[in-house]
Amino acid sequence: MFSRTPGQTQSEPRNHKRRDTQLALVAATSYLGFTVRHGKKGSTVPDFPILDGKRILLVIAGGIAAYKSLDLIRRLRERGCEVRCVLSEGGARFVTPLTVAALSENKVYHDLWSLTDESEMGHIRLSREADLVVVAPATADLLAKMAAGLADDLASTALLATDKPVLVAPAMNSAMWAHPATQTNIAVLMGRGVHRVGPNTGSLACGETGAGRMAEPSEILAAIAAFFDPLARGDGPLPLRGHRALVTSGPTVEPIDPVRYITNRSSGRQGHAIARGLARLGAHTILVTGPTAEPDPPGVQVIRIETADQMLAACQASLPVDIAVCAAAVADWRVRNMADHKLKKDRGEMPILELTENPDILATLSKAGPHRPKLVVGFAAETQHVIEHAQAKLTRKSCDWIIANDVGPSTGIFGGERNTVHLLRASTDGGPASVEDWPSLSKTSVGERLATLIAEHIAGSNTKAPS
Ligand code: C5P
Repeated sequence: MFSRTPGQTQSEPRNHKRRDTQLALVAATSYLGFTVRHGKKGSTVPDFPILDGKRILLVIAGGIAAYKSLDLIRRLRERGCEVRCVLSEGGARFVTPLTVAALSENKVYHDLWSLTDESEMGHIRLSREADLVVVAPATADLLAKMAAGLADDLASTALLATDKPVLVAPAMNSAMWAHPATQTNIAVLMGRGVHRVGPNTGSLACGETGAGRMAEPSEILAAIAAFFDPLARGDGPLPLRGHRALVTSGPTVEPIDPVRYITNRSSGRQGHAIARGLARLGAHTILVTGPTAEPDPPGVQVIRIETADQMLAACQASLPVDIAVCAAAVADWRVRNMADHKLKKDRGEMPILELTENPDILATLSKAGPHRPKLVVGFAAETQHVIEHAQAKLTRKSCDWIIANDVGPSTGIFGGERNTVHLLRASTDGGPASVEDWPSLSKTSVGERLATLIAEHIAGSNTKAPS
């Protein structure tokens, strides 16, 4: 049931009027534990402990993405949320009330006309005894009902009756999402203060590709956590306001000829999460990114490039910045003799590709000079001797911090959702770098944690007395 633990305060989020289209994501420093080598040990606690004890009313409408909501329920329960679910008639065709009840460990509501339900828990109480109402999947039909104020079943009635904030995770075919009716409905809802996460672009259940894919459970979870975070709600101080940050992300694409290229498997997920984290803390953030499927982080200036040369030029044009984080997987080499026409295979001989080294963007930005950022952070993706190689990279590239991670094929880090990293900070007295081991975190949490540490560092360097 929706009970609170003793001493827990009623959360008061709810800037109902705020047009917050894509919720910024939660800063986790105060919530996440990590261990420090050569020093004191901290405890490790899961992502988003801010969710502990929060009461979520989850409305599951009739879309194929309803199966993902089962995973969302599990994730919310793991983090201590009380989850009560309403299944629309369509929702109950995709997932069974029994499964939803088992996962939520709560009664499931689906019938507006059930006398038993009404006597136990009227639909008005149901819609109000929650801290946040989440609609996932939010179908085109339910969004239309919400916009029009219809209340002909339990889901739409609860949504009309609620006085609590609402977060929708739209999910539908891309043509339905793009339709002016749906776009008008979503604009109306957001104008009324409804929050939104997604939809993403990708392959859809109907076999088409486009915008309309429901946000992943991890993204919905992060958006819910952001909702309860005072910083994300805009009620807290923004420690990086007035600072400029530059982040590189994604792969680079190096052409062989007009139709062929060399690239790598970087998803851009980690770099984008860092940009999101920095922007959330108030930094004017410029994200220079190679091609990725990641959505643009809210409030971030995005510059899209393809080659390493273009990435370097875009970074240099963005200077001066206070903070630079190089998370891109820049191709080490490009083809020196790029053909200006498509290479033909019918000439009987193989083309010989001559490679030349790409510029090192991290090392270039780290070079001392009037435009050197106060803090330059690089990444070291290694498959063995992770710390040793990262330490060598820190020195070789003259950056201040390195985020090192093991990207061996068994880790699933490339393209995956989670990351296990170590933060190496160069010592100021020429000694060995300090090493912090972080627990396995979502890439979002790594981005938030890093952004928070960067903010602390910048605040520290601003208050240091001039020597
Ligand atoms: O040398 P390596 O590719 O392992 O270095 C990784 C770090 O250097 C990452 O931070 C990456 O973004 C950056 N890098 C760069 N330009 C390159 C190669 C790597 O900025 N050409």
